[in-house]
Amino acid sequence: MDLTFDRHRRLRNHAGLRAMVRETRVSVSQLMYPLFVTHAPGRHPVSSMPGVDHLGLDEWRREIVELSELGVPAVILFGLPASKDDLSSEAYAKEGIVQQAIRIAKQENPDLLIATDVCLCQYNPAGHCGIVHGDQIVNDESLALIAQTALSHAEAGADLVAPSDMMDGRIAAIRSTLDQNGYTQTPILSYAVKYASAFYGPFREAADSAPAFGDRKTYQMDPANVREAILEAESDLAEGADMLMVKPAFAYMDVLRALRDRFDVPLATYNVSGEYAMVKAAAQRGWIDERAIVMEMMTGLTRAGADILITYFAKDVARYLREDR
Ligand code: PBG
Repeated sequence: MDLTFDRHRRLRNHAGLRAMVRETRVSVSQLMYPLFVTHAPGRHPVSSMPGVDHLGLDEWRREIVELSELGVPAVILFGLPASKDDLSSEAYAKEGIVQQAIRIAKQENPDLLIATDVCLCQYNPAGHCGIVHGDQIVNDESLALIAQTALSHAEAGADLVAPSDMMDGRIAAIRSTLDQNGYTQTPILSYAVKYASAFYGPFREAADSAPAFGDRKTYQMDPANVREAILEAESDLAEGADMLMVKPAFAYMDVLRALRDRFDVPLATYNVSGEYAMVKAAAQRGWIDERAIVMEMMTGLTRAGADILITYFAKDVARYLREDR
């Protein structure tokens, strides 16, 4: 037989050569670990997210040390308030749980990058991301509270704020509030492209933030839309966002790629609670190889264009990367 064809396998025979020609590398420096802090001391497991706990401030101190040892460079903090009210006042209280946790982190290890989720849904009884009038989640009135929340995080020492509420104009409101108060150097990572997703199910148990009525479809995006994602991203950049996020991760890698091809700012992807729970459940049954699956997922997200990987697997990934060295 006289065939002409390409020998792609030539570069696959030697492990060293495979590593040398690898196009995408996952690095520990990309990882951001989401974490829930609560007023009750101790560790309180989240049943739908095996391996994820609510941390009292005592355990949070311990966690900071563990993260430093593992080399996880960044966390994103979520708070469980002591009580909820219509104005979400604990979201921006000086002694709020997130504000306390930030100050502790800055005492324990100033090098750990502290990002905060800026949102109201954990802090009001309606469980919505903005102010509620009747059955409406009102946009413009919510902006001042969201901006105040971001400011209170910056005042406590947060290194970066990440608004997830999806109100229009929140980036403009946060940027101007931060700037007016002297926080011109605090970056905003915008959850610019956040879909109304069933993949947040376990998180809502974890954060006790399920909506008391209705759903989030009047503010979070329709999973069917990608052109609209570009518009959201353009608005947030124009308003002053420094970095953009796509959330969830796996059903939306085309959206991540679309943003990557269009914008030159750093991009984050959020590998959300439902995605985590699915992997954990299958792994517990022995149906998949968790470690291989997790690393393949992180590689895929990086290949699709993510600079920052927000994932509940962050500590595992840090361990795997160290062992693989
Ligand atoms: C709060 C918020 C949510 C998540 C991050 N910030 C939940 C929601 O919008 O309902 C989801 C995180 C996850 O599922 O892991 N607005």
